[in-house]
Amino acid sequence: MNRTSSASPALASASATRPNRPATAWTGPRWIAHRGAGMLAPENTLAAFRLGARLGWRAYECDVKLSADGVPFLLHDATLGRTSNGRGSAGALTWDALSRLDAGSWHSRAYAGEPLPTLAAVAAFVRANGLHLNLEIKPTPGTEAPTGRAVAEAVRRLWAGAPAPPLLSSFSLRTLHAARDGAPELPRALLLDRPRRGWLECAAELACGAVVTHHRWMDASLLRQLRDAGLQALVYTVNEPDEAARLLSLGVDGIITDAVDRFTPD
Ligand code: G3P
Ligand code: MG
Repeated sequence: MNRTSSASPALASASATRPNRPATAWTGPRWIAHRGAGMLAPENTLAAFRLGARLGWRAYECDVKLSADGVPFLLHDATLGRTSNGRGSAGALTWDALSRLDAGSWHSRAYAGEPLPTLAAVAAFVRANGLHLNLEIKPTPGTEAPTGRAVAEAVRRLWAGAPAPPLLSSFSLRTLHAARDGAPELPRALLLDRPRRGWLECAAELACGAVVTHHRWMDASLLRQLRDAGLQALVYTVNEPDEAARLLSLGVDGIITDAVDRFTPD
């Protein structure tokens, strides 16, 4: 997993003349399916998106990184072993090699042969079906800035003319900074797995319109802080009904969940 958030000195020098953040970062429904369809289908595959769509889900979170030759594709881990029949660092292989892997058999026989999807394929599916996307940029360690820039530029191209572009999020400040440089008009969200000193200033510096926090950290006090700063509040990954009810009553803007068969999306 890639949850580094190196507080880059470059952040402090970001120019005040850069454009302000987009007015609304997350325009999709409150309920967001995690990695496509949670755990019911192989995560971060088009099969997962298709299953989620069949179950009525209209908004998705997924993880994107770059192949060695710069093709954005979906994968959560830095390495291939857990969710494909490949081995080693995913970012070390070209797209030609990655495209021949089986990213479905690890899950179940029903999905044997399911390929890794490119971001371009995901864009085609999402746009054709009028879906919303929270794209988590998950760079291979050491490629934080180039991945942020390349993904933002690809999103700008792939969603050109779309009514609602994806919300770009990342745990990596370097990545978000580069995404902002690559396509400043796209909405961004700072991902936080735990309270971190200076997070509000980071969100402002990066012109984020939202913060996506681990659900355990969200409470009335944090929500007030976010609202006062003009930020939307999204949470991950909420799979228990009691916790979902608590967060809904607080009034968060987005709930990312694996439990796509337990919750009813709005
Ligand atoms: O984007 C929210 C959530 O997906 C972050 O955690 O490890 O599931 O990508 P992870
Ligand atoms: Mg993710």
